[in-house]
Amino acid sequence: MSTWSPSSWREKPILQQPTYPNQAELQKVLDELKNYPPLVFAGEARSLKSQLAKVANGDAFLLQGGDCAESFSEFHADNIRDSFKALMQMAVVMTYAGGLPVVKVGRMAGQFAKPRSSDTETQGDITLDSYRGDIINGSDFTSEARVPDPRRMVRAYNQASATQNLLRAFASGGLADLHQVHKWTLDFAHQGDVTKKYEQLAEEIEKSLQFMEACGVTSKTYRTLRETDFYTSHEALLLPYEEAFTRRDSITGDWYDTSAHMLWIGDRTRQLDGAHVEFLKGVKNPIGVKAGPSMDPEDLVKLCQTLNPDNEAGRLNVIVRMGAGKVGDGLPALIKAVEREGLSVVWSCDPMHGNTIKSSNNYKTRPVDAVLTEMKEFFQIHKAEGTHAGGVHLEMTGKNVTECIGGSFTVTEEDLSSRYHTHCDPRLNADQSLELAFLIADSLKEARQ
Ligand code: PEP
Ligand code: CO
Repeated sequence: MSTWSPSSWREKPILQQPTYPNQAELQKVLDELKNYPPLVFAGEARSLKSQLAKVANGDAFLLQGGDCAESFSEFHADNIRDSFKALMQMAVVMTYAGGLPVVKVGRMAGQFAKPRSSDTETQGDITLDSYRGDIINGSDFTSEARVPDPRRMVRAYNQASATQNLLRAFASGGLADLHQVHKWTLDFAHQGDVTKKYEQLAEEIEKSLQFMEACGVTSKTYRTLRETDFYTSHEALLLPYEEAFTRRDSITGDWYDTSAHMLWIGDRTRQLDGAHVEFLKGVKNPIGVKAGPSMDPEDLVKLCQTLNPDNEAGRLNVIVRMGAGKVGDGLPALIKAVEREGLSVVWSCDPMHGNTIKSSNNYKTRPVDAVLTEMKEFFQIHKAEGTHAGGVHLEMTGKNVTECIGGSFTVTEEDLSSRYHTHCDPRLNADQSLELAFLIADSLKEARQ
């Protein structure tokens, strides 16, 4: 640890990085970013960590969600508002029907860089470098668009900063007031069972609020009725950018990555001796690590010991993404190894990345049934092991997209083409997210019985 510095990752092997053609320009941008104001404060990252400590102990549930990849073209206040509302709806369902406080973390305000399964993409007889997210290059299938451009980091920072600003306003400026519970329903929500169930729950909450108001408990007197804590997170993939925002906290003297409250390491970049583990082990933010089917239990133990040497509750989130029908093969051994060593982790379930398929009409999609099944299996396994199913990690949006198939308001393969807008992986729409929230609420209730 004594040799750690914000740039010590540069000595380690690194995967999934762009090769910038102009190094002088890259350095100029990084020098500029080093002087930009932080997007979050160390004290906020510490509050999130203390809330996640409650999750680790089974006294709260973590809801983390947002776009697979934020993009420059989809940057709009309405999109941010709608994702915020969808997350608020999910959170209130889990809190009210599931009976646990919910820690809200957006995959927002910085989720721009994407790991890719291949360095190149071929269409017809043309092969180009892969698109790696708007912070790196452009998604158009032209050789010009695919050249990594460091100036994109400045644009991503500016967009993240405006997004963060709006999220702060939503969280504290009235939209998050529990009295708005009816208004979180999105305009296009289908009048299916899930929407009806939500309307019913909203009515019950309103009645409870009226009763409490009569007892003197109002939005004016209680901050938690009128405001919420909403945190941001993204995959810490593009390390030159993350390094530029790693600052020493003036209060504690510790290093924090101030580009988001929470950062995670992807399934493709979690090598113990690799650059991403080296970087995140030295910042004090709460962090996550993805665990796919290839995660070895003893490697996970070593990762926990490296990333969380003091075994601090709330520091490390293991985000399990195995796929429906496969969690039972991989997760029990991971839990047993972590328990054997007495390690404190927040276990969450990413039911998206292990369930990606190609539809017959060639869209990258995910069946909602598989998403729901993996979530159920995750709860069942934790129940059997006597551990806490602590959270969920989702690719979702408040927009009325048709990217995942199924759900109670069925999206079919034929529907995929109608509103398929994602810049990377398929997201749950607001209806589908709400359906999952009710399943989680039921599972939480059951786990507590
Ligand atoms: C992601 O979260 O978008 C992602 C790429 O996940 P994973 O690292 O688990 O594949
Ligand atoms: Co994704």
